[in-house]
Amino acid sequence: MPTSSFVVPERYRYQNGFNSYHESEAVEGALPVGANSPQKPPLGLYAEKLSGTAFTAPRAENQQSWLYRILPSSAHAPFEMRESSTYNTNPETKPHEKIYHIPNQLRWDPFDLDETVDWVHSLHLVAGAGDPTMKQGVGIFIFAAGKDMDPHEAFYSADGDFLIVPQHGVLDVQTELGKLLVRPNEICVIPRGIRYRVTLPEGPVRGYILELYQGHFQLPELGPIGSNCLANARDFQAPVAHFEEDTATEWHIMGKFAGHLFAARQTHTPFDVAAWHGLYYPYKYDLGRFSTIGSVSFDHPDPSIYTVLTAQSDHPGTAVADFVIFPPRWLVQEDTFRPPWYHRNTMSEFMGLIHGQYDAKEGGGFKPAGASLHNTMTAHGPDAITHEKASNAELKPAKVGEGSMAFMFESCLMVGVTEWGLKKCKKVQEDYNSESWEPLKPHFRRPAKGKSQNGA
Ligand SMILES: [Fe+2]
Repeated sequence: MPTSSFVVPERYRYQNGFNSYHESEAVEGALPVGANSPQKPPLGLYAEKLSGTAFTAPRAENQQSWLYRILPSSAHAPFEMRESSTYNTNPETKPHEKIYHIPNQLRWDPFDLDETVDWVHSLHLVAGAGDPTMKQGVGIFIFAAGKDMDPHEAFYSADGDFLIVPQHGVLDVQTELGKLLVRPNEICVIPRGIRYRVTLPEGPVRGYILELYQGHFQLPELGPIGSNCLANARDFQAPVAHFEEDTATEWHIMGKFAGHLFAARQTHTPFDVAAWHGLYYPYKYDLGRFSTIGSVSFDHPDPSIYTVLTAQSDHPGTAVADFVIFPPRWLVQEDTFRPPWYHRNTMSEFMGLIHGQYDAKEGGGFKPAGASLHNTMTAHGPDAITHEKASNAELKPAKVGEGSMAFMFESCLMVGVTEWGLKKCKKVQEDYNSESWEPLKPHFRRPAKGKSQNGA
């Protein structure tokens, strides 16, 4: 079966389908029939609407859910600012002042595990573009945590949707809409506003997050590919309703709002949703289920064939964010330089590696838990070692990427790097270019005399 083999077995049940209208009740009779907001919702629950798009967004984009809960989310004391030295998602008053826009290729050594912090304080903004207050752009985070969130804390981001890519450890994510277990080689998306609590059943965790400040992720169009392949809709898994009864304990709701951390007290659990229905919910996806497409004749298609999820800008076909993977796959092209070509793109590319070795970088500097950024029009491509090997390889069918999963957060925006990403994390490799491309040698030979020559 084309699924990942996970060390940690699944704990929860799910309902399947991408952008499917789901409904789920954890106790029979909790969902009202027909009406969304009856005068008295069943079982004495409160009805609460959670909207992920404007009410009047076109039907094809519209994402809303109805939650039936013991107490509404509004029952809390005022939010108060709660910055701390370990909270790094935009700590400056003016976030753009400490964002560096630089044309160099950047590569990071593996980011450290940090066992001293929980999920909320593990978030490090490493790069980004745009502004959550304008609902434009993306943020790219590294997370590294070693502690469960406090038993009576929940977190949400008002700034955008979190696409979470675990690289190490297991995330047990209790959301208002139910529970998700997320392991390396799985991803999950927690939409804007949904409250959740992260615990770490297998110890420390580390990974990457793409926060989307605008819109929501969609499956890419398939064009001539047809109606199946790449990420199939049926493989996305949404939680089933799960609720707890607690109206006596003090809870803290932590909110990421314009990059800053706020906290509010309430005397009831936020995980009290007995039933829900709608299109706005968290979900997860096993990257092992991706059905990869490639050339069976010659040349190398654009890496857009590896797009799992996309978030389009106002210009169709131009993504604010693409989540792209490089899964294990067969290469069979004839008379072809099989690794990615050398390129300069208008899109910026932030890459990470979950495990294994990425087939376009054999020099050894791109490691699991590391990263690279090739910004707008920054030249890059296979390193010298890979070029040498691929130019002389026997072109028989070959499986590449076995045991490996590299990915890319691609954006049409020019991506800036934070103070933490460029300096404080101390992971930037100073010798990236000198190791990768400066060793490239010219192989040019003029043709024999007598043929036409325009070169100087
Ligand atoms: Fe690239």
